[in-house]
Amino acid sequence: MIEIAVYDTKPYDREYLEQAAGAERVTWCFHEFRLSVKTASAAKDAQGVCLFVNDQADRSSIEILSSLGVKLLALRCAGANNVDLVAARALGLSVVRVPAYSPHAVAEHAVALLLTLNRKIHRAYNRVRDLNFSLKGLVGFDLHGKTVGIVGTGKIGRIAAQIFRGFEMEVLAYDSFPAMDWATSHGVLYVDFDTLLARSDVISLHIPLLPETNQMLNQRTLAQMKPGVFIINTSRGKLIDSGALITALQAGHVGGVALDVYEEEEGIFFEDLSGKILHDDELSLLLSFPNVLITAHQAFLTREALREIAQVTTKNILQFEAGEAFLAGTTL
Ligand code: NAI
Repeated sequence: MIEIAVYDTKPYDREYLEQAAGAERVTWCFHEFRLSVKTASAAKDAQGVCLFVNDQADRSSIEILSSLGVKLLALRCAGANNVDLVAARALGLSVVRVPAYSPHAVAEHAVALLLTLNRKIHRAYNRVRDLNFSLKGLVGFDLHGKTVGIVGTGKIGRIAAQIFRGFEMEVLAYDSFPAMDWATSHGVLYVDFDTLLARSDVISLHIPLLPETNQMLNQRTLAQMKPGVFIINTSRGKLIDSGALITALQAGHVGGVALDVYEEEEGIFFEDLSGKILHDDELSLLLSFPNVLITAHQAFLTREALREIAQVTTKNILQFEAGEAFLAGTTL
């Protein structure tokens, strides 16, 4: 048996982890709070911790975990931008993740956001329920024949591109490692970043958060975009400078924004704050715009993805306990 302290647990995490193959060989210790310096001590007695996107595995937290005897950081997500990998390595902790669970889940959510925002389904839904059958203000545009720019053509970006090709959109792509064969076979055209910004009617981000991609959409790059551009971000909030985005929306330069992630989402997304005061002026402002649609980091939330996350996480933990080699690609 191996004991794992699971941070930032929601009911669905618990349900799927407990059902995963081999889960009975793990003593799960579920915590609803996130990992931080203040909560690291809750991993006392655990050999490993299981973390999600907003847990703070910074050097200070990792030092506390290490002093408690924790040897494994098992991420139940793909991105590791919230983990100080250098500190983990220096202190001898293994870090594993779930490199791919359902890229379809995220790509499909990106498309759902675009369709909802463009055709104003969210506004129509509320209106009709109030017996307001007026169509005033609900005009959208055909996706057919428009140009979408896919930033990052990894697992998720490629699926999103293929779905957009199904709408008969022109698909431009930008990636530091272009997949030329895939692009040719799917009618996708790789261009440089500046060209993608200048030519796209819709821009969808599918790139990881790295020092070089931090705030890649900023005052300068937003100004390079076509007037009326729609921006979709299902990747990481810090890819966009929210202040610059608000200015571009207020100026009418950006026509619509759909976000599943937000620069300062930690402590807000995944929480029920209804009835409370939102202490984030930029998010409050974004929520007040009619052409901004926000979901709270739910792109991954399908049955298939939750099942896969739980299976791979449990397998990673059991392989660590057995001292075996990890699944290809899961070790960082
Ligand atoms: P991936 O690793 O398969 O693809 C990322 C692509 O970005 C690669 O093709 C890579 O070459 C490219 N890239 C990396 N750095 C670059 C740079 N500086 N310039 C140009 N291209 C660069 O990742 P995947 O699975 O497609 O995921 C993409 C992102 O989606 C993740 O990093 C994560 O942040 C986000 N995500 C969001 C979820 C959600 O629920 N909203 C769930 C899962 C992932």
